[in-house]
Amino acid sequence: MSKIKFHSGENVPLEMHKVRIVQKLNLPPVEDRLKAMEEAGYNTFLLKNRDVFMDMLTDSGVNAMSDKQQAAMLEADDSYAGSETFTKLENKIKEIFGTEYFLPTHQGRACENIISQSFVKPGTIVPMNYHFTTTKAHIVLNGGRIEEIFIDEALNLTSDNPFKGNMDLDKLRDLIETSGADKIAFVRLEAGTNLIGGQPFAVENMQQVRKVCDEFGLMLILDASLLADNLYFIKEREEQCKEMTVREITRTIADLADIIYFSARKLGNARGGGICTNNRDVYMKMREYITLYEGFLTYGGMSVREMEAITVGLEETMDEEMINQGPQFISFMTEELIKKGVPVVTPAGGLGCHINAMEFVDHIPQSAYPAGALAAALYIVSGIRGMERGTLSEQRDEEGNETLSHMELLRLAMPRRVFTLSQVKYAVDRIAWLYENRKLIGGLEFTEEPSVLRFFFGKLTTSTDWQNKLVAKFKADFGDSL
Ligand SMILES: Cc1ncc(COP(=O)(O)O)c(C=O)c1O
Repeated sequence: MSKIKFHSGENVPLEMHKVRIVQKLNLPPVEDRLKAMEEAGYNTFLLKNRDVFMDMLTDSGVNAMSDKQQAAMLEADDSYAGSETFTKLENKIKEIFGTEYFLPTHQGRACENIISQSFVKPGTIVPMNYHFTTTKAHIVLNGGRIEEIFIDEALNLTSDNPFKGNMDLDKLRDLIETSGADKIAFVRLEAGTNLIGGQPFAVENMQQVRKVCDEFGLMLILDASLLADNLYFIKEREEQCKEMTVREITRTIADLADIIYFSARKLGNARGGGICTNNRDVYMKMREYITLYEGFLTYGGMSVREMEAITVGLEETMDEEMINQGPQFISFMTEELIKKGVPVVTPAGGLGCHINAMEFVDHIPQSAYPAGALAAALYIVSGIRGMERGTLSEQRDEEGNETLSHMELLRLAMPRRVFTLSQVKYAVDRIAWLYENRKLIGGLEFTEEPSVLRFFFGKLTTSTDWQNKLVAKFKADFGDSL
């Protein structure tokens, strides 16, 4: 809810920034969009940006930077070793998280690689509130497996539970007791749980998870990539934190973790990433991998300009009026779609607006990738690029069987401070039209299927000629309009 009320009573998110640099957008005609989709193998990752009107694929590395971030980038101190820019970043992290040691990486999955190589041994288990694609891939690559111990409500797509990202404490304890604490590599808690709709955890839940970890001598690792949204929801929804500043909440959370890692493509509105800890042994164990895989310890694969931008971006994340922008726009879009009857994930979370494809195209079986088909259809009718988060984003098991996802979501990311309200209204309009014409959408099948992270490069085709029927209906209804 915006702090600024409209006299009309309307709940309109208000931008707390002004736009001073703009980028021209292109909206190709529907026939060209169909051609672009076909060329991209019905995979929105493979579309060219010049064919995309609203890029809602992700918020990763595409949030708008502030004038202060841009200015800081000009001041960067370029050197391989001992850069002043790195020291600034290290100090900012120390100030915000209270952690002594910082290892820079080129992005979030690099942290996952290093953490997994350091602590996941064959046969070990990593319990977590929910997995993220790259996290799971790295754990599995190192011989471990994940166990998702989300609360039952997490998978309830239309819920009013304010903290669907919480961990189920009884299930966590059960898992540790039945498998033995020595089999647990570490416990991982993800802020703003990406794959279940950007849903937050509560500080209270993390405090309880910490207690369980202490009882069994386990490390608690926080994936803080989506911490900004999670902080906003905690401040809004958690009674014990209402009077706390964002900085105080951040510190409370950080003090509960043994290791914090983050993708700075998300946290800090820049690019890059890093791992923070107060534990020297843990730091020393991971340190050698940084120089092997990332770069020297004072840049870790990041440019100095990126590091300057993160330092300022992290400070700006402590501002409630900055971190509220994403969630408030997402909430607006979600509410507008609900008014039009479109099935969406509630409560509105962070990161983006999530459409429930299982219900939107309930005539498409999971084996024909309903969320992928919906993503392709939406692009064709609007030029909007979203991301499939469902079975296509899963990996086949060792026998080659499909792993059916718990959810089939079309994620429409809301890069922070990037879109205007009229663009969001355009998206709502086209999605509502597509919903009315949903029966025209059909399934997809692979023509090229990579074995690892197949959603990035895989190519698909339509199982029937549904795409041409959809375009014909679009033209009948919209005439000359793009
Ligand atoms: C929760 C979470 N963890 C890790 C990552 C991986 O970060 P990166 O894309 O910077 O490698 C992401 C990226 O989307 C994420 O959302």
